Amino acid sequence: MENFVRIASVDDIQDGDMISAEIEDSKVVIAHVEGVLYAFDEECTHAGCGLSDGDLDGNIIQCPCHGAEFDIRTGEVTSPPAVEPLKTYQVRVEGDDILIEYEV
Ligand code: FES
Repeated sequence: MENFVRIASVDDIQDGDMISAEIEDSKVVIAHVEGVLYAFDEECTHAGCGLSDGDLDGNIIQCPCHGAEFDIRTGEVTSPPAVEPLKTYQVRVEGDDILIEYEV
């Protein structure tokens, strides 16, 4: 079963920024890029480093540990050493709330 879960307020994240948040046992990152919100797993698929400490350049997040890069729109790996894609989540805004689609 899937549903949308509130994860943050739109006021929590300015354009060009990202924040991390917890849902159940997972940590996710919300990024705000040119008016669009994206959500993806906090853990890099290479060796588990926290991507919220990485560099966001447009739609590309670079892991702070070994430099892997992912497209945050799709989770696709755009630069090694990561091989596995990053899990991404659908995002919805309702009023002041940011919600992500999360399997329960
Ligand atoms: S843990 Fe992210 S590139 Fe190694």
